[in-house]
This record gives sequence, structure tokens and C-alpha cells, in this order.
Amino acid sequence: MISENRVSVELKGLRKVYGTAVALDNFSLDIAPGELVALLGPSGCGKTTALRILAGLDTDHEGQIIINGKDIASIPANKRNMGMVFQAYSLFPTMTVLENVAYGLRVRKVDREKRNKKAQELLDLVGLGEMGARLGHQLSGGQQQRVALARALAIQPNVLLLDEPLSALDAQVRTQLRDEIKRIQIEVGTTTLFVTHDQEEAMAIADRVGVMRHGVLEQCAPPQEVYLNPATVKVAKFVGAMNLMPVEILSSSSVSIYGQSVALREGGNVAGTMALVRPEQLSLALAKTQGRASATVFNLTFLGPLTRISVRMTGDARTLFVSMPSSAALEFVAGSLVDVRVLATSVLLDA
Ligand SMILES: Nc1ncnc2c1ncn2[C@@H]1O[C@H](COP(=O)(O)OP(=O)(O)O)[C@@H](O)[C@H]1O
Ligand SMILES: [Mg+2]
Repeated sequence: MISENRVSVELKGLRKVYGTAVALDNFSLDIAPGELVALLGPSGCGKTTALRILAGLDTDHEGQIIINGKDIASIPANKRNMGMVFQAYSLFPTMTVLENVAYGLRVRKVDREKRNKKAQELLDLVGLGEMGARLGHQLSGGQQQRVALARALAIQPNVLLLDEPLSALDAQVRTQLRDEIKRIQIEVGTTTLFVTHDQEEAMAIADRVGVMRHGVLEQCAPPQEVYLNPATVKVAKFVGAMNLMPVEILSSSSVSIYGQSVALREGGNVAGTMALVRPEQLSLALAKTQGRASATVFNLTFLGPLTRISVRMTGDARTLFVSMPSSAALEFVAGSLVDVRVLATSVLLDA
């Protein structure tokens, strides 16, 4: 239905400074043709800055932008053929939905019949085929973002840029539309940069997740790898929940965590005082000998399929979070005396 327009994107050594604030620092990222990369990081870490530079909306920066092997520094924003969707609803209020989607084609002087046909095709793609005659404000927030997506795709962009497009929507619509964007992106095959501060969203939608902190790209890898094998302590702490557990160094390759010996992650730190252990990498068992219990359960949070249990260690009163299937959590109540085991086969140390 929609012709594919697959390009590669290389951002090389981008640096952007506002006064004394460094918004992007030596930022390099390659996006393969047809790939969807999500930039993930807290507010202010430079996500929008990276996206604006790629779009040509900000030309006062260091570093290169290369599309299909060609430096596009001299190409102005309106000639870069990039489709954009932002957080705020941005439909033209006096135009119908169909006219909104056809807008970019009208600007490009595509004749009415052709552009309306194309716009209708795109509305069908985003599931709003029947809504073409309405005005923008007659749609829900989620529907408006679908129209914005259709409008961005109508011009058959080289690159699709999505800046927190789901942030203003409520949770259910957000998840639904997230899955839809993924489906549509696979269908049209447009190289896409998706910006979000929401971990789950980034993990769910992206081929690769680029984790950003303070203008720096800490790691860019498939979601599973970012989560299971974080490249840096910053990534480990930012993506997913993490316990900090005190260690004694046993050797250059192993540590003791509350008396249990665990290997150090290869390539990770060999010095440090705390191991990083995810809640699902800990298990609990009711203590057999009460006097020697290693911890006491003090809270259980039911999260549907999973239950999160917080325990307080007997020795140092440290609080740890343990996550397990809710069916397994039934045997624990607040006050249960438990033994804590580390299931992780290797750990990273906090620097
Ligand atoms: N126009 C601007 N003037 C001054 N500082 C800015 C401007 N735009 C962004 N910044 C600063 O640059 C940093 C990165 O901003 P931004 O890229 O918008 O982050 P994000 O999109 O990740 O929230 C922030 O510290 C922000 O305050
Ligand atoms: Mg932003």
C-alpha cells in the first residue's frame, strides 16, 4: 500500500551548548534503514535537542548528520523530508481531518484527487478511515495523535521523528497507541527516532533503546540487552528497579553478598561497595530457624501478575525489593521471617 522509503541515519559527534549548559555531548548514533530507535532519558537530558538537530530545526551545533551516506548540513529543515509528531496536539483546527493529513501533499503541489486518495489511505492505516470529514477538535486526544501520525507519514518521509507523542494520553490509550505505532512503523518501514522518558514505552516499541543521561548516550542496544546487560551503572540504575546490596570483595572475579558468593559481571567494575541486583533476581523462603532469619517482610504490593515484596535485612536494616509471581507471593505476609537468596549468576558493582 505504502511504498517503502528506507534510509540510514548517522549522527556523529553532536554537541550542543546553551550558554554554559551542555545539552548534547559527543552524541553519536546510527539508525539502520527501517529501524525504530527510542531515545530514553529523564526530562532535560537532551532528547528533543537531538531530534531537532536531525530535523534541521537547530543548525547551530557541532557534529554531522549523515543520511544514506550523505552529509545533510546544507539542506534546510523543509527540504529534509522528515515527518514529525509532537506531544502537544498540533492539528490545524479549521481543517478537516482529511485536509490535515493531506496538508503536506498540498504544500508539495500534489493535485487534489491524488492527495485526498493518499490521505484516505493513511487514515485507514491509523484506523480512522471514517473520520475524514470531522474537524480536529471533534476527536479524542488519542485520535488526534493518530491523525498527526497519518499526516507525518503522508509525505512518505525519509525519517519519522516522534517526540513524546503519547505523553499527554491516559494510560490505556497510551499502551494501545504505542502498539499501533509499532505495527504501522513495521508496515511502512520508515526509519524512526522515537523520544520518550517512559522506560516501558521505550522497551515496548523500539528495536534498540538509546539510554541518555545529561546529553550523553550511555548505551544503545536492544531492550533485552539494556535491561539484562546494562553497559554502565547509570544505565543499570535508570532502567528498571534495582537493589543496592553491600558486598565484600572475595577475588577479582567474585564477591560475597550477605554471605553468598556471586561472580562479578565480566567487563564490569572490579571495585565497589555495592552490587546491583534486580528485584526479580532475589528470592525469598520462609526461614526454617527463626532465630537466624536474614530478613523480615514488611510490605507486599500486589501488581497483578507480579507482587513486589519489601523486606528489611536483619543485620543492617537495609530495605530490599523482591519481585515474584503473585501466586508464589501468597505464602508471605507482613512480618514473615525470611531468608533472602541472590539468583543472579553475576552482578555489576556500583562505582
Ligand atoms: N532553547 C533553549 N535555551 C536554553 N536551554 C535549552 C533550550 N532548549 C533546551 N535547553 C536545555 O538543554 C537541555 C536539554 O533539553 P531537551 O533537549 O529539551 O531535553 P529533553 O527533551 O530530554 O527533555 C536542558 O537542560 C534544557 O534546559
Ligand atoms: Mg523533550
